[in-house]
Amino acid sequence: MKYLLGSDIGTSGTKTVLFDLEGRAVASHTAEYPLYQPHNGWAEQEPEDWWNGFVEGVKAVIAKSGADASDIGGIGLSGQMHGLVMLGKNDEVLRRSIIWCDQRTAKECAFMEETVGRKRLIEITANPAMTGFTASKILWVMRNEPEVYEKCVKIMLPKDYVRYRLTGEFATEVSDASGMQLMDVAGRCWSDELLSLLSIDKGLLGKMYESPDVTGRVSESASKLTGLAKGTPVAGGAGDNAAAAIGAGVCRQGSAFNTIGSSAVIYAVSDKLNIDLGGRVHSLCASVPGKWTVMSCTQAAGISLKWLRDTCCAAEIEDAAKLGVDPYVIMDKMAAEIPAGADKLIYLPYLMGERSPHPDSDCRGVFFGLSAMHTRAHLIRSVLEGVAFSQRECMDVFKEMGVPVDDMTVCGGGGRSKLWRQILSDVYGCNISVLNADEGGALGAALLAGVGAGAFESVEQACGQVVSKRVAATPDSEKSAQYEPYFSLYKKLYLSLKEDFASLAKI
Ligand code: XUL
Repeated sequence: MKYLLGSDIGTSGTKTVLFDLEGRAVASHTAEYPLYQPHNGWAEQEPEDWWNGFVEGVKAVIAKSGADASDIGGIGLSGQMHGLVMLGKNDEVLRRSIIWCDQRTAKECAFMEETVGRKRLIEITANPAMTGFTASKILWVMRNEPEVYEKCVKIMLPKDYVRYRLTGEFATEVSDASGMQLMDVAGRCWSDELLSLLSIDKGLLGKMYESPDVTGRVSESASKLTGLAKGTPVAGGAGDNAAAAIGAGVCRQGSAFNTIGSSAVIYAVSDKLNIDLGGRVHSLCASVPGKWTVMSCTQAAGISLKWLRDTCCAAEIEDAAKLGVDPYVIMDKMAAEIPAGADKLIYLPYLMGERSPHPDSDCRGVFFGLSAMHTRAHLIRSVLEGVAFSQRECMDVFKEMGVPVDDMTVCGGGGRSKLWRQILSDVYGCNISVLNADEGGALGAALLAGVGAGAFESVEQACGQVVSKRVAATPDSEKSAQYEPYFSLYKKLYLSLKEDFASLAKI
């Protein structure tokens, strides 16, 4: 065995990376695909796009590296969490997947809490009913599209659909499955009690594994399509955040990291299950056997910046194409010219409703304090700052729960922006570290596959051997002080607008 392959089935694209056994990326490929938003608050994707993105990525990394496929010792899958994939009896996809940031299921969440009892639901699943999680999405299809539900014989998560096409095995693993809200999270298994109360047949769900376990092998047909060797072991892998945690070396109690991707997540590992009864942060199984996590999720982090780019920054996109750089590089430069606080402009990042620390499917984005003196550069800066404020608000919940976060490793697209890292450091008031190789979920998934294939003794050993970091930003005390009044106002704004958001949703 010379290589491990990791693939992260994300929201903007699937990133596939071939690694050597020291965790160095040998070749990488990202295949992009669309997100469909047929109604305000809805978000769907096509499972076929994920599979095609995976196949394209595998072929590309094998071709770019010139690797012999038989030297790939294991494959790990990472993926956007909570998405609902439904298959019929001939393995056909019955409808587009309703994905993590979709917010249509407020009524189904209320039904779950009435039927199971809020306290019992939290005891079993470690979380109150969440619109973002899969169970309420299943109930939505059951109630609103009964003709689809009747035909359904298999329910699975995005990366587990790729696993099914790759190996023929109908399986999942604890880190992603605990975000379906159908598991007994303390017992790390499906909850018979919950499934029976919600009238969901257990036969619709895949076999449960721990994340490093081998769940199947590349089938003959998938081998022909991808160029992978038939029989290559495929590990459980993990939900994207749990996989990115491994790629960031976060596998022991007390360690934490912050991803700024489509969503923004703060993720801490613990030896026991910690629950926030208010549902301000989530409690899930970690991808490290025998450990759990506390995790916050801001729905629209990168999504906010991408929205601003696509709706308001045509000129920057054009300039970037001429210069051969990413439009975000130009947007960053513009925002760097604007003072901290964006000249009194505050952004609330609720474009897709919110989960942490305000589980609320009705809230929506706000630019507060907009003035005729503000330019596009101010809008960009206030989006970067608004996401940072949202992370700080979540960190305060972690502290309240006794999970301190003093040194933060920042990953994902946001971690690549020098300006965003500095804003985060100033708003958090702590050092920001970055990974020397930030390959996100793909590296974590590959390391889990390495554990399953016997290249490493344990997840902890793999992290210790492969992951290294460096400090990339330290707080500027003057700027930190300037942000304080803005952060206080930011926190107040949600509370002031909460009822107005609900009224807007009712119109
Ligand atoms: C986590 C969550 C998001 C997605 C993004 O609960 O919903 O981080 O996993 O891919």
